[in-house]
Amino acid sequence: MLVSKKIPWVIKYRPRKIDELVNQDDAKALVKAWLRSWESGKPEKKAALFYGPPGSGKTSMVEAICREYGYQLVEMNASDYRRASDIERVAKVASLQKGLFASKRLILLDEVDGVSGVADEGAIEAILDLIETTKNPVVMTANDPWDVRLRPVRDKSLLVEFKRLTKTEVLNLLKKICLNEKLICDEEALKFIAEKSEGDLRSAINDLEAVAEGAGKITLDLVKQILRARDRVLEPFEVVRNILRSNYVWQAKQNASQTDLAPDELMQWINENLPLQITDPEDLWRAYEALSKADVYMGRIVKSGSWDLLAYATELMSAGVALSIVNDVKSKYRWVKYQFPSKIRLMTQTKEARALRDTIAELIGRQVHASKQKVINYVLPYVRIIFDNNPEMAAKIAVGLNLTDSMVRYLTQRNADAVLNYVRELRKAISEEVKASKPSKTSSGTSPPTKGKGKSTQTKEKEGRGLDAFFKKT
Ligand SMILES: Nc1ncnc2c1ncn2[C@@H]1O[C@H](COP(=O)(O)OP(=O)(O)O)[C@@H](O)[C@H]1O
Ligand SMILES: [Mg+2]
Repeated sequence: MLVSKKIPWVIKYRPRKIDELVNQDDAKALVKAWLRSWESGKPEKKAALFYGPPGSGKTSMVEAICREYGYQLVEMNASDYRRASDIERVAKVASLQKGLFASKRLILLDEVDGVSGVADEGAIEAILDLIETTKNPVVMTANDPWDVRLRPVRDKSLLVEFKRLTKTEVLNLLKKICLNEKLICDEEALKFIAEKSEGDLRSAINDLEAVAEGAGKITLDLVKQILRARDRVLEPFEVVRNILRSNYVWQAKQNASQTDLAPDELMQWINENLPLQITDPEDLWRAYEALSKADVYMGRIVKSGSWDLLAYATELMSAGVALSIVNDVKSKYRWVKYQFPSKIRLMTQTKEARALRDTIAELIGRQVHASKQKVINYVLPYVRIIFDNNPEMAAKIAVGLNLTDSMVRYLTQRNADAVLNYVRELRKAISEEVKASKPSKTSSGTSPPTKGKGKSTQTKEKEGRGLDAFFKKT
């Protein structure tokens, strides 16, 4: 009782017979005919490739076949067949020998599309060899069977398509589970889960189970609350690790989406930690090639504002990088301590300085009618030279722009004290001048706004006055 309660629902509600699978009627018919050809001893094709979106019943179909037709299942999954020798050892032996208890065997190479991305060249050869020599049916599954490297395998296999399940089909199965689990479910809540699953029954059932845990009633509110928490954003360290460990394009992209880092920040994180995780020089070279292409896209996006290019950039920095690691796949799974990207660290350390620089550039920009960026590139370097070499002139500029002491210190390190001395003298002289011209009025609020340079803000007027007074005096 206790044990059965702990069985995950995706296993508990796995179809036991071929006909129990929802939809997939074409697949069922093809598979049954293929199995009959095996029973008759004259199979047309020795292998079948089940392909279709995740959670559409491919693996379930294989298990149902075995149960119904009495095959012993010999299973390999992606992590087992990255090397040709692994496939040869396990699958080939199994394909020739008879099972210990069952007389027939079925060999399952689950998720073979993983092979094309991560395996050495020989893996595909080994699979072809297996298909050639097998005395037992071989079933392969794949999300994406159209990968070029799978082509020879495709040619030798019966292609069986699994359709993406519709929202209604997902919904109906969820309802059945609710009934069986004696759960009270709001229709809206189930619809929400079904919608979100995009036809992936595995994720739909997992979501339902996550919400049902501890709650006897499933409401839309609860669903939204819990599922949002489940889709939580991960720490940058985790995200980078997950991206590098991805075996499929979709997986890498999904992992890359689980962060709230900006795309260029994510790129920095990958850039920093890639060489820690990956050691094979060729893998690294390929991965950095992908990353640098992502960087090119990012640059164009920032320059041109074409955010529609972002999809390419993220795909390159996630899938492009992850699928570059083919020589030493094991290195992806080593545990290494990741580092905070040095560029971002530097940027944080220099944040204050950059904020100062930006403010100065804005102040100058208003006077010379240029953008902040233009000023930073074309004006600030000269201002710096002045501040470093001519403290008197620098002081006039500082007073004119109403720069703070720290701004002056930002503009010149070696002459800051001299400049600031001049600034104090100038300010004193200016205020005496102002007092002398308007002896009775001390409050600045009553003075009329200055013409020309005067803008609406108070500081602006003050700057304008300072400048005017200064220029009149000189
Ligand atoms: N067509 C289907 N009919 C009934 N249940 C399904 C179907 N497809 C998927 N499921 C459910 O989703 C889970 C995952 O399905 P699976 O066969 O492993 O998908 P995949 O196509 O990714 O191999 C199964 O355990 C089962 O509960
Ligand atoms: Mg599967």
